[in-house]
Amino acid sequence: MSGRIPREFIDDLLVRVDIVDLIDSYVPLKKTGSSYTARCPFHSEKSPSFSVNRNKQFYHCFGCGAGGNAISFLMQFSHLDFVEAIEDLAGFVGVDVPREALAYQEKKQDYSALYSILERVAVFYVEQLRGSSRGKGAIDYLKQRGLSGSVAKDFSLGYAPDEWNALASKFDNKLLLDAGMLVSKENGRLYDRFRGRLMFPIKDKRKRIIGFGGRVLDDSLPKYLNSPETAVFSKGKELYGLSELLEKNSKPKRILIVEGYMDVLALAQFGINYSVAALGTATSKIHLDLLFRFTSELVFCFDGDSAGQKAAWRAVQEAFPCLKDGRQVKVMLLPQGQDPDSLIREEGLDGFETRVQNSQTLSDYFYSYITNGVDLATVEGKAQLMAESKPHVEKIPAGFFREMMFSRLQELCGNSSLDVLKNPAMLGLSERQKTVAKKGIQGRVKLSPVRIVVALLLQNPQLIEIIELRELSWQNLEFAGLNVLEEVCQAIIEIKPETPAILVEYFRGKASEKVVNTLMNWDFFILDNGVEAEFSGALDRMLEQLDESALNQLLKKEKKEGLSQAEKEQLILLLEKKV
Ligand code: UTP
Ligand code: MN
Repeated sequence: MSGRIPREFIDDLLVRVDIVDLIDSYVPLKKTGSSYTARCPFHSEKSPSFSVNRNKQFYHCFGCGAGGNAISFLMQFSHLDFVEAIEDLAGFVGVDVPREALAYQEKKQDYSALYSILERVAVFYVEQLRGSSRGKGAIDYLKQRGLSGSVAKDFSLGYAPDEWNALASKFDNKLLLDAGMLVSKENGRLYDRFRGRLMFPIKDKRKRIIGFGGRVLDDSLPKYLNSPETAVFSKGKELYGLSELLEKNSKPKRILIVEGYMDVLALAQFGINYSVAALGTATSKIHLDLLFRFTSELVFCFDGDSAGQKAAWRAVQEAFPCLKDGRQVKVMLLPQGQDPDSLIREEGLDGFETRVQNSQTLSDYFYSYITNGVDLATVEGKAQLMAESKPHVEKIPAGFFREMMFSRLQELCGNSSLDVLKNPAMLGLSERQKTVAKKGIQGRVKLSPVRIVVALLLQNPQLIEIIELRELSWQNLEFAGLNVLEEVCQAIIEIKPETPAILVEYFRGKASEKVVNTLMNWDFFILDNGVEAEFSGALDRMLEQLDESALNQLLKKEKKEGLSQAEKEQLILLLEKKV
């Protein structure tokens, strides 16, 4: 991705923007001392622990640990990907993203005509629903389905008149065709795809209209018609209602995945503003990953018929690879013959929400589904359960959830027969995760001298001078953290960052990104004029530790295999230093 937008452009952008102004335009900031604070937009809290630092051009929340530079803020706050964030940031500063360097920016530019025609069509459909006598049938239908004017407004519902040329005679036909709004007959004649239907505009997460769904007002078939796949619309990637959901709440506690347009509307009508629907396709991994960008809990809420049950099982299978620790999927099975629309009308908001609260955990659902009809009292039954479950559970990313799913399988099959599962290697956990899992706590980061050196250097890149002045180099040493220090030094020398934010940007997507971000956020509470002394001190302590470690390595080697002349000299030097 980094090859597409020139590095210099991104660096330049980060110099031009002031993160305080940027964040202040989304979350009003208050000046307190040398930094700016607010209540954190990424978790709910009563007193502010979100702070923005103008010198570092960095933000950090002491409560939830969110942090980063201006690009990270836009990615996190507006749920954008990297390129989208760059585009928004460029817009904020008032510059264009260089076109020649960004091949698919050009494609996006072409799409703007599609977005705009779809927007105009949506406005036209709304006018037809409200302002024309032709829309009366559709209004009556909405009333009959118990939907209020305000839900119709929130979801920009419209009406496509029952005519062959309502759109075709009004808008540019080439654009309409590309946007999927026209169908072409064999004789080459074009006509409107949607006729005499209640229209549901489908928006992407950036609130742009990308397609439509349309429902007949009677029992004729097909009941629903959807836009075909176009350059801007892909059913496997988009979800109905997501944009409207984010409009109400950008960080919902959970999101319900339901089956139909009408379910989303009925739920919203009763105050459940956190549901989305897949667009007449199976729920895909892409859908789930998209939703997990906004929430940590998804609830599958599928109809109580056998098609709904099948859809739930398929969705659960898709979900397994997405289930990193901290993400949760639950399953809410509806009574036979009900869908969310009918159920909430029957049971009301409280009844429905109680069902949401009581929905099954994924593990309960999974094991009850997969053991259905299996006789676990027999060896054959256990073997069957094992054979059927393992391929699914193995798809869960390494972590506690995966481990617990395996323990559950082990319990169900009877401990003794499945010792193979006890082998942690089977669980795909790293050594570190195993240690953490044993302790049951998240390992705390130690404030070692090398970490302090790296952290201070990241936050004050000009300190590289001290390292250069002292002509320090530390090759060929096995010492935790040294590789990151070396990487940071090289980056500073190479890109000469004007602010820490630019330096940190350099590490996006690299192996050391996470540790760099953590160290960037350490606050030492040092006064500005004390930074150099603190840095030199930490550097000295680090060098002492390096010497110590080199000394030990040499002594060990001497015992085992003897030393070369050069190594002997080094050993003497190190011993002399010690006295
Ligand atoms: P349903 O038939 O369950 O929809 O189809 P629904 O929302 O309950 O319909 P009504 O209005 O209450 O009768 C679920 C979803 O499957 C897709 C649509 O996305 C619909 O919302 N579908 C269904 C189609 O795409 N085409 C169809 O003909 C039917
Ligand atoms: Mn229905």
